[in-house]
Amino acid sequence: MSVNPTGEQPAAAPQSFAAAFLQFEQDCQSCRNCPLGETRRQAVVWRGARQARLMLIGEGPGAEEDQRGLPFVGAAGRLLDLLLTANGLLPDTFHICNIVKCRPPGNRVPTPEEAKACKPLLARQFLLVRPKVIVLLGATAYKYFTGNNDAISKVRGKWIERRGSLIMPTFHPAYILRNNNERIRLWEDITQVRCKMEELGYLSPLVYQPEMPSGRS
Ligand code: URA
Repeated sequence: MSVNPTGEQPAAAPQSFAAAFLQFEQDCQSCRNCPLGETRRQAVVWRGARQARLMLIGEGPGAEEDQRGLPFVGAAGRLLDLLLTANGLLPDTFHICNIVKCRPPGNRVPTPEEAKACKPLLARQFLLVRPKVIVLLGATAYKYFTGNNDAISKVRGKWIERRGSLIMPTFHPAYILRNNNERIRLWEDITQVRCKMEELGYLSPLVYQPEMPSGRS
């Protein structure tokens, strides 16, 4: 056994990013800070890139997410992916997660207590991912993330600056699936996000090719 002659506690060894991220994921899986921990199949933590300038935050996992352990993999996620991909936002450019990591039974909206219980994990996720641009998907994400109660239809599409980050509230893709006439709004907001990422130098501009590549007219 080694003896520390000063009698002081040795400083904790610095953890690598990979180790810190793994510890975070394990802590999410073992979390029992609220009753959702008892009814979930598994915690649904993230999808995309471990570190990304862009973070998208939804409400909470649904049935498919609970089963597969990944956020936004159901119908709403497929629509979201379509809009992101069309704007050149591929999974290596974003990190997607939710306000709560465990499925609320029957896909109900998470309670304020559940959102509060999950907040320390989301705060840790932020420190690991280090996003600069944040997209809040839907009224619940907007409300729990900002603490404001404004209607999402009123605040969507407008940037909010907060502690060195830019926040874009927008409609939840599940809402768009039920209200197809609003699809253009979600498209506009995601396009604004794409442009902002370019403006801030996080992505290079998409190439515009006005001519047919094969020479066909
Ligand atoms: N809706 C959400 O808010 N999050 C998901 O992960 C899936 C659907």
